[in-house]
Amino acid sequence: MKKTKQLYEGKAKKVYLTDSPELLIVEYKDDATAFNGLKKGSIAGKGVINNQMSNRLMERLEQAGIPTHYVEELSERETVVKKVSIVPLEVIIRNISAGSFSKKYGVEEGIVFDQPTIEFSYKNDDLGDPLLNDYHALALKLATPEEIETIKKYAFQVNEVLKAFWNECGITLVDFKLEFGKTSDGSIILADEISPDTCRLWDSKTKEKLDKDRFRRDMGGVEDAYSEVMNRLLNHK
Ligand code: TMP
Ligand code: ASP
Repeated sequence: MKKTKQLYEGKAKKVYLTDSPELLIVEYKDDATAFNGLKKGSIAGKGVINNQMSNRLMERLEQAGIPTHYVEELSERETVVKKVSIVPLEVIIRNISAGSFSKKYGVEEGIVFDQPTIEFSYKNDDLGDPLLNDYHALALKLATPEEIETIKKYAFQVNEVLKAFWNECGITLVDFKLEFGKTSDGSIILADEISPDTCRLWDSKTKEKLDKDRFRRDMGGVEDAYSEVMNRLLNHK
């Protein structure tokens, strides 16, 4: 598998075309941004951790019957994935109040919900990824009704698998963001990444934040938090 040409450079990853038309190579960078790119920085070693963590989690999700774009880890920072057209929806599942939920609804962080919530944002940096509902997504033709149902079903399944896995690592899965893609045959699969960039992960005992909020909120100890989460994943039997 060889990179041919760079297709796209995002905030945290580069994406390359390959000699196979159905496959891409993603390369994870150490660059970190927050607040729609307003805050910029770098987290040493993040690309390596996010690449490997995302791959291990996608393997688990595949085993649980959730289709993903993951194909093969090529190197510390590079992974072969299936080529998809990304559905321009950021799918956010929350188990516990935090972040924009707490801010928007005026509640403290840490309230455990009776059942998880789901929300969509329109993946559009120029507009600041505005929140939208199913009807808005349909009006904008971002997805079909069937695709939206499939995405919701998979997103809640991902939550159950990841919640249980992280719980066994002594980590509470507070919330996370997923992106889905459409393959050439029209099926919906999980794409993008699952990492401390895209999840809120709290130590189950101390509630210490072990994710990108440490960068967003200038809390320090960012690299150590990413390493801690990776070590817990690797030490899971
Ligand atoms: P929020 O509370 O800021 O809406 O974030 C919810 C979850 O989504 C949190 O785990 C972080 C993740 N997230 C991303 O992955 N990318 C983003 O651009 C944003 C805003 C949040
Ligand atoms: N990565 C996103 C950005 O820079 C935001 C975030 O993760 O907080 O816009």
